[in-house]
Amino acid sequence: MSVKAKAAAAPEVGAIPENFKAKAHIDAATYEKMYAASISDPEAFWGEHGKRLDWIKPYSKVKDTSFEPGNISIKWFEDGTLNVAANCVDRHLKKRGNQTAIIFEPDDIHEPAQYITYRQLHNQVSKLANVLEQLGIRKGDRVVIYLPMIPEAAYAMLACARIGAVHSIVFAGFSPDALAARVNGCDAKLVITADYAPRGGRKTPLKSNTDAALLHCIHDPKVLMVRRTREQTTWVEGRDFDYGEMMLEASDVQHPIEINAEDPLFILYTSGSTGHPKGVVHSTGGYLVYAAMTHQYTFDYHDGDVFWCTADVGWVTGHSYIVYGPLANGATTVMFEGVPTYPDPGRFWEVCEKHKVNQFYTAPTAIRALMGQGDEWVEKHDLSSLKLLGSVGEPINPEAWNWYNEKVGKGKCPIVDTWWQTETGGHLITPLPGAISTKPGSATKPFFGVQPVILDPQSGLEIDSVEAEGVLCLKDSWPGQMRGVWDDHGRFEQAYFSDYKGYYFSGDGCRRDADGYYWITGRVDDVINVSGHRMGTAEVESALVAHAKVAEAAVVGYPHPVKGQGIYCYVTLMNDVEPTQELYQELRQWVRHEIGPIASPDLIQWAPGLPKTRSGKIMRRILRKIAENDYGSLGDTSTLADPSVVEDLIENRMNKG
Ligand code: PRX
Repeated sequence: MSVKAKAAAAPEVGAIPENFKAKAHIDAATYEKMYAASISDPEAFWGEHGKRLDWIKPYSKVKDTSFEPGNISIKWFEDGTLNVAANCVDRHLKKRGNQTAIIFEPDDIHEPAQYITYRQLHNQVSKLANVLEQLGIRKGDRVVIYLPMIPEAAYAMLACARIGAVHSIVFAGFSPDALAARVNGCDAKLVITADYAPRGGRKTPLKSNTDAALLHCIHDPKVLMVRRTREQTTWVEGRDFDYGEMMLEASDVQHPIEINAEDPLFILYTSGSTGHPKGVVHSTGGYLVYAAMTHQYTFDYHDGDVFWCTADVGWVTGHSYIVYGPLANGATTVMFEGVPTYPDPGRFWEVCEKHKVNQFYTAPTAIRALMGQGDEWVEKHDLSSLKLLGSVGEPINPEAWNWYNEKVGKGKCPIVDTWWQTETGGHLITPLPGAISTKPGSATKPFFGVQPVILDPQSGLEIDSVEAEGVLCLKDSWPGQMRGVWDDHGRFEQAYFSDYKGYYFSGDGCRRDADGYYWITGRVDDVINVSGHRMGTAEVESALVAHAKVAEAAVVGYPHPVKGQGIYCYVTLMNDVEPTQELYQELRQWVRHEIGPIASPDLIQWAPGLPKTRSGKIMRRILRKIAENDYGSLGDTSTLADPSVVEDLIENRMNKG
């Protein structure tokens, strides 16, 4: 059944629960009023809401932004100064020094949880800021963080922010090569890592990965290592420093420095449709205003609530909704080191029960995986503390939405399906749960200040009718918007502002229904979304062709029941190489090794030839259709140099039927 038909068939699903509505920060009338104000006078609106932060020097200018070709410029609160760590930690000490800031839930169920108060957080962050300074890190220097999901990851982010260093977190599942590219990409002076990263009962050797990565690094960054498992690691004298030892010695007195609102807070690499991952740069002031405000309103966070976002700090979701947004709001945030299915598929619900979680935010891929394990894993836990559920990272199919609603939320928790991106810093299209009733599979309506438009992909013109389908763009800036691509302003303009002049192009397709609700239909570029992880097909292709036996490769996404999309690779081997099962496994391992396990191919099809135009361009549209087992709508193949290639590929399509 289509998403639309299902939504229409069950009108009561998605209604705002009465008890929720009564207590919510924002009701329907307030949403309408505030949204209208945010669009008609953004300066006044954000000038007011920027005050949710403590500024060292208050801003006098609020917004100076332009999406005009040749003149792309995004500045918010540009003459204000502040410190992010002071806003996330110090300013809460008076009122909530003894309140838990971070609940740390380790991978191993036998290891006790940790409850870190704001005072303890202050102590750790101040000390670490001193350690960073001792290691020679100064304002503007880049620090790569390659850590497990442990509190030290949050300390490291905040310690960087405290001294104005720019952090770049690399997900602990990335390979040494991917780490090296990111260390080199921002010319990092320091890598903060751990001996090992425990996850799902296994361990990733982060320190030896770091050692391997640094062999390929142009400059010689220092390494600060947290002892997570306390196992033996190699040690390079003079380069490697012991986190625990340095923290013991460090003073806990450290004054947060004054930072301009437009100075960079962090870089986060993300995949695009072409080339290597881009270093997305986020600002200090606008980003924090936006992360904090969306955290409070989208999740309807109230003082004393326990908030759990299951993402990893290696992704933007972890930046904005584990660390910066919640802590700026003085919240209690859960950091979970493990995976949803370890030691059993009840882990998420056990953690919700144990810590009395009020708002729970996860990805559809996790919901689908757990749904497949049977309801008993949910039913054996007391989930009565839950008030709201969230979804992020990919479209949520109605089956998963309904299961989440009925089995986890017991029909009493609004579901916020939040659409946003690494580039956007925070939610752009999302229900505000006390104001907007939901429909399974729709991200619903824009957040304050956000002006989504649907363009006709061919003409590039806005489709004005309420019902519309096309590409999703944004008409004007919002404070959490990325400020650029690290070290490459040209690429910023090229990637986001060149396809549709005067707009920010999201890369997503979208439909707007008769009620003005937005339905994200997925990427329209060569980016695929695997288990909520964003992957450039070009990256997987270049990993494959780096293998000596591979002549050519083309990678596309295809529908996968749990991951959303799977990675489908067409591989042409060198002339004298035979396709074998061993080589199949070797290539899968190779890609895991080159990029990391998240890029592991799901299917490889040996392709004696790839469909190309006469000018040599691979026709991906055809490859996508074959991967989807959709041979009826291959479209025009007459422009192919050799149309027989297509028949051969269809003939050999893996898992036919
Ligand atoms: O295609 C959209 C999808 O994820 C992309 C952004 O990926 P990333 O930068 O890794 O950030 C993920 C977490 C914010 C988008 O272009 N996406 C994200 N959220 C949704 C979504 N697709 C549909 N519905 C969503 N709620």
